[in-house]
Amino acid sequence: LAIESSCDETSAAVVLNGREILSNVIASQISTHEQYGGVVPEVASRMHIEAISGVVEEALLKANITLENIDAIGVTYGPGLVGALLVGLQFAKGLAFASKKPLVGVNHIQHKDLKPPFISLVVSGGHTFIVHVKDYGIYEVIGQTRDDAAGEAYDKVARALGLGYPGGPKIDKLAKEGNPKAITFPKANFHEETLDFSFSGVKSAVLNYLNKCNMQNIEINKADVAASFQQAVVDVLKDNVLLTCKKKNIDTIAIAGGVASNSTLRETLINEAGKKGIKVLFPTPILCTDNAAMIGSAAYFNFINGKVNDLNLNAKPNLKL
Ligand code: KG4
Repeated sequence: LAIESSCDETSAAVVLNGREILSNVIASQISTHEQYGGVVPEVASRMHIEAISGVVEEALLKANITLENIDAIGVTYGPGLVGALLVGLQFAKGLAFASKKPLVGVNHIQHKDLKPPFISLVVSGGHTFIVHVKDYGIYEVIGQTRDDAAGEAYDKVARALGLGYPGGPKIDKLAKEGNPKAITFPKANFHEETLDFSFSGVKSAVLNYLNKCNMQNIEINKADVAASFQQAVVDVLKDNVLLTCKKKNIDTIAIAGGVASNSTLRETLINEAGKKGIKVLFPTPILCTDNAAMIGSAAYFNFINGKVNDLNLNAKPNLKL
């Protein structure tokens, strides 16, 4: 049984042998945070408290299993919003204590869906990095964002375009009607010195472009802005991840995080990687955003490797991989 509450989704899942999802219940708070244009941490924590027991009960019910038949309780203890993390963590500790089952803390960024070695591109609202997964639990971070995460840039640009939150899916949709070559936005490139990313430059360039148009009374074609911004982001993600595969001589890429559902990122990577004989694996969209099934899978591998925690486990908002 796994529990996830690191941001604005309360989720519980039952996972068999680390790979088979018996249930994956997700209570999303998006409609509440939408009105504020982003996640309000205090509101998120309160909503987790309201949702958590029902979500866990439903996950057990859907998996047709009782707590007695669960082997271990996995839970995200970081990274994330501390108040939000604490709700899931305390609930998991309570369950583990009452049922005398082992507690397994999971790093939200840990993924165990495929067999190493592979290159993982993690692109979400809070993270953007490339990891070389050498073996189960053995990672090397190859590059990461120096400022905004890719999803964060999507959300901020969407907000400036008046599209609402979360911005990623809205830009993704609008971009289909626009011309990706209409406006040239800057792409951060550290010239192979490092495979780090930077998305604040492209974000600021979009904001400046919009301001300039407004000041000069130039009509803004939102679809062109969305498509051109997206092109700049996707190109950098694609270039860096393909360069990593070349440097490390790896032929499998696994994408994770909310931005992994982006249709242009998917198409571009599949095409460009395909030309080089590199496989690209994407989770289904529901497994791209926060969910407890991925936590259950990671918890399983921790558990069979003897990595269990005691009830002193604390939330770590800045937990590193
Ligand atoms: O992994 P996730 O659910 O949350 C965390 O960051 O923990 O990712 C959410 C992020 C948001 O920034 C959202 O705008 C972005 O993923 N996102 C997308 C798409 N769907 C979600 N970005 C681009 N295209 C999408 N289709």
